[in-house]
Amino acid sequence: MNQDLRTEYDMDNELYDLRAIFTSMVKGGLDKRTRDNIGVFLAQYMREKIHSHHQFVDHRGFGSVYTENDLKLLNEMGVVSLDDIFTDSEINHIVAYLSDFSVKCVYGDSTSPEKLDICPVDEVPLGVNLGFYEQEVVSRCPWFYKIAHNENLIRLVEAYLGVLPTLSSITVWWSFSTGMGLLGNQLYHHDRADFRSVNLFVYLNDVGPNNGPHVYVKRTHEFRVLYEMMRRRLDSDSKGFQKFWRWMETHRKSDKDVETIFTEAEIKRHVGIKGTSFLEDTRGLHKGQFPVEGQRLIFELCYSLLPKYNDSFYPIHRDSISDIEAYQLPKNSRAYYTNRLFYH
Ligand SMILES: [Fe+2]
Repeated sequence: MNQDLRTEYDMDNELYDLRAIFTSMVKGGLDKRTRDNIGVFLAQYMREKIHSHHQFVDHRGFGSVYTENDLKLLNEMGVVSLDDIFTDSEINHIVAYLSDFSVKCVYGDSTSPEKLDICPVDEVPLGVNLGFYEQEVVSRCPWFYKIAHNENLIRLVEAYLGVLPTLSSITVWWSFSTGMGLLGNQLYHHDRADFRSVNLFVYLNDVGPNNGPHVYVKRTHEFRVLYEMMRRRLDSDSKGFQKFWRWMETHRKSDKDVETIFTEAEIKRHVGIKGTSFLEDTRGLHKGQFPVEGQRLIFELCYSLLPKYNDSFYPIHRDSISDIEAYQLPKNSRAYYTNRLFYH
């Protein structure tokens, strides 16, 4: 046999794109039990890879701010409130910083969201549901940079996910009460960005029951937690149990279905003053409730295992961020790894 004819297997010539296969598995091609199991496997696999390639500054435990109890709540409920992500003064600075920029408007309905050109927030036309700041505007904001590099937060997220996380989105958006129909994220759904993920949310204005609180169904994040809860509830109803799991696998759910299946005590409506912050596993059922009056401004960091495959990123130089007091970290800090898609 002529060894010179042997060639490398070229995946580009295949019909089957590995990214597409991976995406279709995470987006419902596999059932929740399997997706969650893969998440645990993937976290362990990545932990070994990351630690064999990086020599991080050593750290132990949670640091000075968050505790085992925060982790326990996140594991049991899928959500935990966090204090003091930003001070009042920082939020005022953030809102002033954002006021110089326009937003990308999104409107339509859950099946066909449309994007309009960008426009200033106070000129957003009627019918628009959401207004997003551009990624670079958000990642350049010094106070967002600072929280993205907060080692205490990263340690808590790492303890939850089982591996040093990757920041896969950094987002700020307005929700307006002028939208004509409900967009997908205004209906109950579960996120399908990765096999494991957790998001930080911070309200940048006061949010009451009418201006679009974020709503979360507790204990729906992990298969094993949800299974136990529903097994007890539907103990003698095996048909109902099967029907429930088929329903769970559908991506979007009606309010009526959710409110029939889960009790009011299980549905957490996050209302709170500006600065209200929570870490939430959005594999669990959630929605941004459509505001019936006023508007909501919210900041979100999404931590996942892998980068989101279907997104593009605009990394910026750390040195180009101005107006912040010295916030230097060593190059081998965990925060540099976590934020590598957005900062270099
Ligand atoms: Fe979501």
